[in-house]
Amino acid sequence: MKNLLIVYHSQSGKNLEMANAVHTGATHPDISGVEVRFLRAFDAGAEDLLWADGIIFGTPENFGYMSGAMKDFFDRTFYSVEGAVEAKPYCVFIGAGNDGQGALSSLTRIIKGYKFKEIHEPLIIVGELTEEVNARCEELGMGMAAGLEAGIY
Ligand SMILES: Cc1cc2nc3c(=O)[nH]c(=O)nc-3n(C[C@H](O)[C@H](O)[C@H](O)COP(=O)(O)O)c2cc1C
Repeated sequence: MKNLLIVYHSQSGKNLEMANAVHTGATHPDISGVEVRFLRAFDAGAEDLLWADGIIFGTPENFGYMSGAMKDFFDRTFYSVEGAVEAKPYCVFIGAGNDGQGALSSLTRIIKGYKFKEIHEPLIIVGELTEEVNARCEELGMGMAAGLEAGIY
């Protein structure tokens, strides 16, 4: 079995909806070899990162940065996992009001410290949540889970 961690923050629900779709994709019935932990950033910790073979991060953009909750997750976990999580595959989804670039650049900078390996381009959703957005989120989750199961990452 491979382990996939989905860790996200949402205040007003957009990123929660996206996270739910990512989770739906990652737990598709065709994928049997992947265990998924689906956690709010405030509820996740270093042990979850050590457990994971791959991670999907989801956050809104707040004040031109990732959400405080996601930053708190990184603040709490970095020194506990430093050197033990290198090259774990990851990808990111961001539901933002403008272009999401502040959230993305802050995430990318911090994630460089963990030395995770990006395996999919960031999914940034600025506008309304639509069926197409939902499908893209599901694809992100399914793609990561299927890649882990197949040993591609
Ligand atoms: C305090 C606060 C600050 C925000 N700052 C930004 C920002 O700098 N850039 C941006 O694109 N959106 C910003 N937004 C909008 C949120 O990113 C956007 O509404 C997002 O979809 C919220 O996600 P959520 O519903 O999962 O909480 C801000 C929202 C709040 C509440």
